[in-house]
Amino acid sequence: MAAAQKNDPVVRDGIKVGLAPMAGFTDMPFRLLCSGCGADFTVSEMISATALTRGDGKTLELAATDPREAPCALQIFGHDPDVMAEAAASLAAGRPLAIEINMGCPVKKIVSSGDGSALMKDPELAGKITEAASRAVHAAGLPLWVKIRAGWKKGEITAPSFADVLAGAGADRITVHGRTRDQMYAPSSDNGVIRAVKEKVGSRAEVFGNGDIDGPESAIRMIRETGCDGLLVGRAALGDPWIFGRIKAAFAGGKVPPLPTKEERVGAATELLSAVCELYGEERGVRDSRGRAARFIKGIKGSASVRDRLNHAETEAEFREILSHLL
Ligand SMILES: Cc1cc2nc3c(=O)[nH]c(=O)nc-3n(C[C@H](O)[C@H](O)[C@H](O)COP(=O)(O)O)c2cc1C
Repeated sequence: MAAAQKNDPVVRDGIKVGLAPMAGFTDMPFRLLCSGCGADFTVSEMISATALTRGDGKTLELAATDPREAPCALQIFGHDPDVMAEAAASLAAGRPLAIEINMGCPVKKIVSSGDGSALMKDPELAGKITEAASRAVHAAGLPLWVKIRAGWKKGEITAPSFADVLAGAGADRITVHGRTRDQMYAPSSDNGVIRAVKEKVGSRAEVFGNGDIDGPESAIRMIRETGCDGLLVGRAALGDPWIFGRIKAAFAGGKVPPLPTKEERVGAATELLSAVCELYGEERGVRDSRGRAARFIKGIKGSASVRDRLNHAETEAEFREILSHLL
């Protein structure tokens, strides 16, 4: 298993490893689980700035954090500088780790409103949003982060010049997912873009790398190839929150813990089920847990038929009982 050399100046102990924002997944229960497994920080699901400023109750729920979890940044999306600043200021009042602006979401519904990665086509507007939001967030004494992609279109890598605008407009951290919007999630993320952003931005803002990190080896590669200041793990953490502990241990040059056992995986899926049912009520909790549990049990012998049965489970007790068949 990969581990850094002791006293390596590049891959060092203490490099921050966070949980990437994932709508439908990085809610409080899952963030708590990742916190317990060593994530240094987490990012919430994306929150609509417009809905927030209208006082929508459901949207406000997305911004709830738990004192037991690792420091959590709250992510907002939108495209109107004033609305973004107002939303940022209202969330900053709750003292999260940071406010992050989503300029990377590729989903049609989001980009067709001019939000998420659509902003990468309009650096001037993105700069205005960052300026307005950073003023609001800095007034509360918090940092402003922005999450971007490599660019809008394959072959048009605009992230370095875009990040330059953001850093000039007051962004304290820029997280780069090394794919363009039209690449969605394939082919593999390009560390070269992240390096180019880091070189362009220099020390004006932190640059965090993101994309395809699935364990200590790819995490070390990301740091070595990009010189980035820290990284975020997304999909690989969904069924494996222990990944944070393994990466952190590798960065420290220590012994990397073994992969989780079947018992630990089923145990974590069950723990998450309870927490999700408690937060959202049994009906939604069970429904939401299907996709989540599937990720934890993937690869365990018999998991395919268990997954099918979980898709028909209606109560928490039934769900728990089906999961226990894997033990
Ligand atoms: C289900 C899902 C939901 C996501 N939701 C968000 C989101 O709300 N905000 C955001 O900035 N990125 C979102 N992302 C992108 C991730 O944060 C991350 O950039 C991407 O998955 C690449 O990292 P990975 O290869 O480690 O998964 C989402 C990704 C997935 C798979």
